[in-house]
Amino acid sequence: MGNPVVVNHPLDRNRRICIAPMMGWTNRHARYFHRQITRHALTYAEMLAPEAIVRGNRERWLRYSQGERPVAFQLGGNDPKMLAAAARELEKVGFDEINFNVGCPSKKGKTNPFGAHLIRHPEVVRACMQEMLEAVSIPVTIKTRLGVDEQDSYDHLAEFVGQVKQSGCRVFIVHARKAWLNGLSTRQNREVPPLRYDYVYRLKREFPELSVVLNGGVTDWSEAAEHLRHVDGVMIGRRAYKEPYWLAEVDRLFFEAQDPDPNPPEVMRRCLPYVEAELTRGTPLREIVRHMVGLYRAAPAASAFRRQLAIQGHAKGADKTVYEEAIRIAERLSRPGRYLE
Ligand SMILES: Cc1cc2nc3c(=O)[nH]c(=O)nc-3n(C[C@H](O)[C@H](O)[C@H](O)COP(=O)(O)O)c2cc1C
Repeated sequence: MGNPVVVNHPLDRNRRICIAPMMGWTNRHARYFHRQITRHALTYAEMLAPEAIVRGNRERWLRYSQGERPVAFQLGGNDPKMLAAAARELEKVGFDEINFNVGCPSKKGKTNPFGAHLIRHPEVVRACMQEMLEAVSIPVTIKTRLGVDEQDSYDHLAEFVGQVKQSGCRVFIVHARKAWLNGLSTRQNREVPPLRYDYVYRLKREFPELSVVLNGGVTDWSEAAEHLRHVDGVMIGRRAYKEPYWLAEVDRLFFEAQDPDPNPPEVMRRCLPYVEAELTRGTPLREIVRHMVGLYRAAPAASAFRRQLAIQGHAKGADKTVYEEAIRIAERLSRPGRYLE
């Protein structure tokens, strides 16, 4: 589906369809699970301040599994040196890409600007990007919005991108709405400002040398394919997380994969060795299975599966047998055609 991408870096291909960073949602367990459903779509870790890596508990923040790759790590901040130091650590442990958050509308960004607040400070964004790009050899990309508050014209966006591009940044992921920093909550800022896909298309037309990834409100694969006629990639957030099995078609539709889509019990079985290893390390089962509850979201008959994960899987001391029973329920549910009913 869509046009082939001009490939400048192997990850450009994986970015054709990517799974958005979502705080509290796309942690390492979720990413491992998603990777068992799609081998190719690039996944993004939640935003983290670089200080947490440079001065904090490295073991905690940098832990991930090789089985998640390719995976991008997202940083949020405004101190170029600190960001570069964190980027170096992230490259060292094997993350495939660093993404800089210039889209978070959090009120906390008001006093010490970060996230979307930095759209007003393109010179800071440029300095941060440049320092990180010089520090590492993996791709450093940016995730931004169309604008902020009344600074929301296409010309503003093009001016911002034109300045940041001078850092050497080549990949712009654009959430196709602006942020209202005065008056809307973070959540409302994902719903209320209108989507302007035309701005993102125009950006690609006017900056053909950049790789442009469109994000926001995509809930359908034919819609994603239509966007790919205009841009290089599509990033999906909420639908992918809430309905993860929807991702099962991605490899076949967008990455020329020949294998049949994995069915839900197969996905669960693929996660079993990971679940066992994590339980052995002391990770509570609930932390892993909470991301899996939506595997059968579309199937009303799957309440037994959801109960198994959301109730039994969340009980104190829940062990591998609880997970194995969830697989057995999934096997019963997944007779051919059942999921799609
Ligand atoms: C729970 C949640 C947490 C989010 N956390 C982040 C984040 O850490 N970094 C970021 O760049 N975007 C974050 N986002 C925004 C998403 O990455 C994405 O831009 C947004 O949801 C729009 O895409 P969608 O319509 O496909 O969901 C978050 C979204 C949600 C729903």
